[in-house]
Amino acid sequence: MKIAMLGSGFIARFYAESLHSQRRKDYLVMVYSRNEKNAKRFAEDYNLPHYTTSMEEAIAHPDVEVVLISLPNHLHESAVRECAKHKKHVICTKPLGRTAEEAKSMLDMVEEAGIFGGYLEDLCYTPKFLKSMASIKRGEIGKVLWAKSRETHPGPHSDWFWDKEKSGGGAIIDLGCHCVEISRNFIGKNIKPMEVMCWADTQVHPIEAEDHAIGLVKYANGAIGQFEVSWTFRGGMDLRDEVMGTEGTIWINSFLRTGFEMFTTGKGGEGYVAEKAESNTGWLFPVGDEAHELGYPHMFTDMFTAIEENRPPLETFYDGYVVNAILDAAFKSAESKLWEPVILEDWRGDEPLQQQKSWNSYDEDHYIIKKEVLPNGDNKVILKHKKTGAVTQKVTQANK
Ligand SMILES: NC(=O)c1ccc[n+]([C@@H]2O[C@H](COP(=O)([O-])OP(=O)(O)OC[C@H]3O[C@@H](n4cnc5c(N)ncnc54)[C@H](O)[C@@H]3O)[C@@H](O)[C@H]2O)c1
Repeated sequence: MKIAMLGSGFIARFYAESLHSQRRKDYLVMVYSRNEKNAKRFAEDYNLPHYTTSMEEAIAHPDVEVVLISLPNHLHESAVRECAKHKKHVICTKPLGRTAEEAKSMLDMVEEAGIFGGYLEDLCYTPKFLKSMASIKRGEIGKVLWAKSRETHPGPHSDWFWDKEKSGGGAIIDLGCHCVEISRNFIGKNIKPMEVMCWADTQVHPIEAEDHAIGLVKYANGAIGQFEVSWTFRGGMDLRDEVMGTEGTIWINSFLRTGFEMFTTGKGGEGYVAEKAESNTGWLFPVGDEAHELGYPHMFTDMFTAIEENRPPLETFYDGYVVNAILDAAFKSAESKLWEPVILEDWRGDEPLQQQKSWNSYDEDHYIIKKEVLPNGDNKVILKHKKTGAVTQKVTQANK
C-alpha cells in the first residue's frame, strides 16, 4: 500500500518509524504538513518522494492509496471528509472524534463513500494484548467480570492537547479512549455498554479540562469496565491492565516495567529513554522496541491486510464511535455525579437480555459457595441450602 501521512508531529513520526524501520510492502509516499519546513524535513527523514502544504493535494495525489490521519483531534473530521470526497481509504489515529456526534459523522462518511475506515487503537494490538485476547476467547479465564485499564503520565507534549476546544477534553478523551476500548475488547465488543459513573478533576494544571479521572462502565451482561487516566502521574508512562474472570486472571504491564532495567550516572550523554520518561539518569526503565510494545506493527499489518482482503480490521471506525459514546457519558457523569446512560443511536451488537445467574451445585440440596484447602491440609467447603438459604460449612480432615 502507498500511504499519505497527514501531520508531521509526534505520532506521525512514531507511525513512520513503524512503517519504515522494518522491510515491508506498505510505505509512505507523501506527507502533508501546514508548515513547509516540517513537511520537507519529514519527507527527507523518511525518504518520501512527495510533500505538500495542501491537505487536499496529499489525499488526491494519484500515487496515494491510503490516508493516515495523524492530526490533532479537531482536524480528524475534516480530513475524513476529504478522504470520502476523493474515495481514498482512511486510517485514523485515536480518539476518532471529540464527541460521538463527530465520530458518527466520520463513520457515516466512510460508509457512504464505500471506503475503508480503520481506527488506529494501537493498544488493542500489543503482543501481550493479542495473546491475552486469544486466551480469553478460548475461555481460559471464564466469563470476564471486571476489566481495568490504566494509562497515566505527566501530560502530553503539544499545546493543542491542553486546549479543550481543540482536543475535546483532557485525560478522559486523550487516554480514556485507549482504556475504554481495551476493556471493551476484554468484556466483548458485542456486549452493550449501558451506563457510566465517572469522577474527574483538574488537580494540577491551569487548564479548563480534567487532568485526572476514574470511571466505571457498566455492561449489559453485568461486567464492569474501569478506566484510570491521568496527566498528573510522575515517573513516566504507566500502562497496565487487569482482567478478572470466573476462571482466571490476567495482569499486563505494557510499558514502565518490561523487564529492561538500567542505571547510569549520566556520563556519555543525556538521550531519549522512552516515551514520557521523566529522567535519563539514575535507574531507568527503557523499552526495547517501543513501536512493538505499543502495538504499531501488528496494527498496521491488520489494517493493510484487511484492505487487501476486503474485510473489516480488528478496530474499525464503528469501534471509535462506540468509544466516543462511552466517553460522552463519562464527561456527563463527571458533571452530574450520577450514572449516565451511554447513548448509542447506532448499536450493532447483541440486544441486552435479562441477566440469568446460574450457581454451581455441590449436591442435590446445596449450591457450592467456596472450596479451600486449609493450612493443616483439611479440605473445607462452604455451602448454601437451595431451599432454606442456610449457609453451612463441611470440613474433611486431611488423609481421611
Ligand atoms: N498512541 C497513540 O495512538 C497516539 C499517541 C499520540 C498522539 N496520538 C494522536 O495523534 C494525533 C496527533 O497527535 P500528536 O501527538 O502527533 O500531536 P503533535 O502536536 O505532535 O503533532 C500534530 C501535527 O499536526 C499539525 N497541526 C497542528 N495544528 C494544525 C492545524 N491547525 N492544521 C494543520 N496541521 C496542524 C502539527 O504541525 C503536527 O504536524 C492526535 O489525535 C492524538 O490523539 C495518538
